[in-house]
Amino acid sequence: MSEYTITFIKNEQPKEKPDSDHLPFGKFFTDHMFIQDYSEEKGWHNPRIVPYQPLVIDPAAMIFHYGQTIFEGLKAYRTAEGNVQLFRPDKNMERLNRSNRRMCIPEVDEEFAIDAIKHLLHIDQEWVPSAPGTSLYIRPFIIATEPFLGVRPSKNYQFIVILSPVGAYYESGINPVKIAVENNYVRAVKGGTGEAKTAGNYASSLIAQEVADKEGYAQVLWLDGLEKKYIEEVGSMNVFFKVNGKVITPALNGSILEGVTRNSVIQMLKHWDIPVEERKISMEELYDHYINGELEEAFGSGTAAVISPIGELAWNNEHMIINDGKTGAISSKLYQTLTGIQYGTVKDPFNWVVKV
Ligand code: COI
Repeated sequence: MSEYTITFIKNEQPKEKPDSDHLPFGKFFTDHMFIQDYSEEKGWHNPRIVPYQPLVIDPAAMIFHYGQTIFEGLKAYRTAEGNVQLFRPDKNMERLNRSNRRMCIPEVDEEFAIDAIKHLLHIDQEWVPSAPGTSLYIRPFIIATEPFLGVRPSKNYQFIVILSPVGAYYESGINPVKIAVENNYVRAVKGGTGEAKTAGNYASSLIAQEVADKEGYAQVLWLDGLEKKYIEEVGSMNVFFKVNGKVITPALNGSILEGVTRNSVIQMLKHWDIPVEERKISMEELYDHYINGELEEAFGSGTAAVISPIGELAWNNEHMIINDGKTGAISSKLYQTLTGIQYGTVKDPFNWVVKV
C-alpha cells in the first residue's frame, strides 16, 4: 500500500486550546487536518496531514453548484487513564461509502480511512479534552472539486478530515430538549437522499428549524414526506419512545439516516432483554399513547446528540409533556452505559471500542 503513505507537514504555529470546561459544539478546530485527492487517472492518492488551513478551491467546483458532497461524524474519547479511543469507526466508514454510492462519489478504502483518522489523532492527541461530557468530534467529508458547470458526477474530489473539541450538542446539555413536530416542510422521501449523510438534507431542514427555534424548540421531528403521518427522525438524531414498557423506533425505510448510536441503542436494549420494536409509528398512535398515559419516555440518539431525552413534543396545538419533562430511567441508563463504554469506565461487551 505504498501509494497510501501519509505525508506530514507539521503546524509550526499551534493554536491555544479552548477551555475544556466550557466547550461549545463545533466551533474550535485542532492544529492539523487530513486531505486526500481523487482523480480518474490516479484514484484516491496523495494522502497528507497538513496544518489546519483554508482550502483553495475553484469557484466553478461542482460542490458549490450541485452539492455533490457527503460527511460523517464520530468522536474520540479521553479515558480516565489518559488514553484515546474511538467508538465503532468501522460503522461510520461503512456508512460513508453508502453515502458515497448514493451521491456518485468514488468509494474510499474504509480500513485506510480509519488508519488515517488514527494517525491524525496521534498528531493532535493533546486536543482530546478530558472534562466530563467532552470529546473530540471527528468530521470526515468529501467534496466534488472539478471546475465544471454541467450536471454529472465530478471527476475530482477531496477527502478531508477535521477535528473539533466539543461539549454537549444542545444548549440544554443533557437536560431534556423540546422538539416540535414538523407539519409543513418535509426532509426526505423514499428514493431521495434521506439515508445518505449529504449536505442537502441538512440545508433543506434549516427553514423548519428556524421557525421552531423562534418558538423555543431545539429541533423539529420530521414526518414521512408522502403522508406526513409517520415519524422519521430529528435530523441530528434518531428517535425512540418507551410505550407500555416497550421501546419503539421508526424502522429504516430508505429516508431515515441509519444512525450508529441508533444501532447501538437497539443492541443495548436487546442485551438487557428490554423489548424493542423497529416499525412504522404514526403521530396519531403516539398521541393516543400519550393521552392514555402510556408514553413513558422519549429520547433521541446520535453521535453529536449522544442520548438526548425529549421532555416536550409539540404537535399541532398539543404540547405533549413527557415524563414530567424529566429524564427517564431508560434514557438515563442508556446514556450512562453508552458514555461509560465510550469513555472506558464501563465494560464493553460488544467490542465497540477501538483504541487509538
Ligand atoms: C452527528 O451526530 O455526528 C451528526 O452528524 C449530526 C450533525 C448534523 C451534528
